[in-house]
Amino acid sequence: MQIQELQQQIDAIQIAALEAIKAASNLKELDQVRVQYLGKKGELTGLMKMIKSVPNEDKPKVGQLVNGGRTVIEEAIELAKDGLKAKELEEQLKREAVDVTLPGRTQVMGNRHVLTQIMEEIEDLFISMGYQVVDGFELETDHYNFEMMNLPQNHPARDMQDTFYINDELLLRTHTSPVQARMMEQHDFTKGPLKMISPGRVFRRDDDDATHSHQFHQVEGLVVAKDISLADLKGTLDLFAKSLFGAERETRLRPSYFPFTEPSVEVDVSCFKCGGKGCNVCKHTGWIEILGCGLVHPNVLEMAGVDHTVYSGFAFGIGADRIAMLKYGIDDIRHLYQNDVRFLEQF
Ligand code: PHE
Repeated sequence: MQIQELQQQIDAIQIAALEAIKAASNLKELDQVRVQYLGKKGELTGLMKMIKSVPNEDKPKVGQLVNGGRTVIEEAIELAKDGLKAKELEEQLKREAVDVTLPGRTQVMGNRHVLTQIMEEIEDLFISMGYQVVDGFELETDHYNFEMMNLPQNHPARDMQDTFYINDELLLRTHTSPVQARMMEQHDFTKGPLKMISPGRVFRRDDDDATHSHQFHQVEGLVVAKDISLADLKGTLDLFAKSLFGAERETRLRPSYFPFTEPSVEVDVSCFKCGGKGCNVCKHTGWIEILGCGLVHPNVLEMAGVDHTVYSGFAFGIGADRIAMLKYGIDDIRHLYQNDVRFLEQF
């Protein structure tokens, strides 16, 4: 083959290769072009094989020409490769782009149940006055729930608390008062007074309606020491009422009856809605009943092994559900137990 002819063929391959390189739209296609022209069986490689059939003196020239063509194509491929890589990177970045201007996803924040909040508020207040917080048993014995609270078998006042009995001796506690007896039995009074509160669930056989529930919550309070009087109780509950319902609140004591206290009183707080003038919350009396309390009955002290001639005490039982309902204007106690998030998230 003439050198000239060879040159023409190389030119033709080069032109075709450059076209193909330009047309390659991704790296894979570009590599196919490389194989087609420069690979072992490629078109340019095929020409190199002809070197065998040319006279010796022409061989360097042929090699030079073929390699020249090869270099041109190789350089064009490298250049195209850089371009395609940049293009693919750009596409990848576009694909993976994050729009930082999009509004974030809102997280639903849970909150503590309104009753838990009230109970913790009450706990914090009494802790600040040096009370200890103790847990009691929801499953109690008749002995602690009633007998130790000065309610022997067949005592008519047992009817005040209609009871879920498990068997003759076990029951669901009807109030948190049994914790009083358990704590008095354990306490070493030579070491100082007993000051405790005990929050928890209590149970009574009741048909559920807007103001009654077969389960509700109480916070029991008990102080036993030397020389505890009704004045101590009144001062303590005054502070409690002001802390929960506002500094302007006043309290009044009304005589009442509980078997485990003597005297027994009910505590009213001046209406926090109308300030005492009379409204629908206080049923136009200006006062709202918030808890029952009294001085610990001598029988209760004695049964728990406390000498009533040396020690005296006061006790109170706060209805936490009632406090929450009053404080937040909740008109149906069942809201507290139905776990409707639309209700609960308001607090
Ligand atoms: N245990 C009483 C009740 O549930 C409340 C109370 C407690 C009253 C302590 C006086 C003293 O009704």
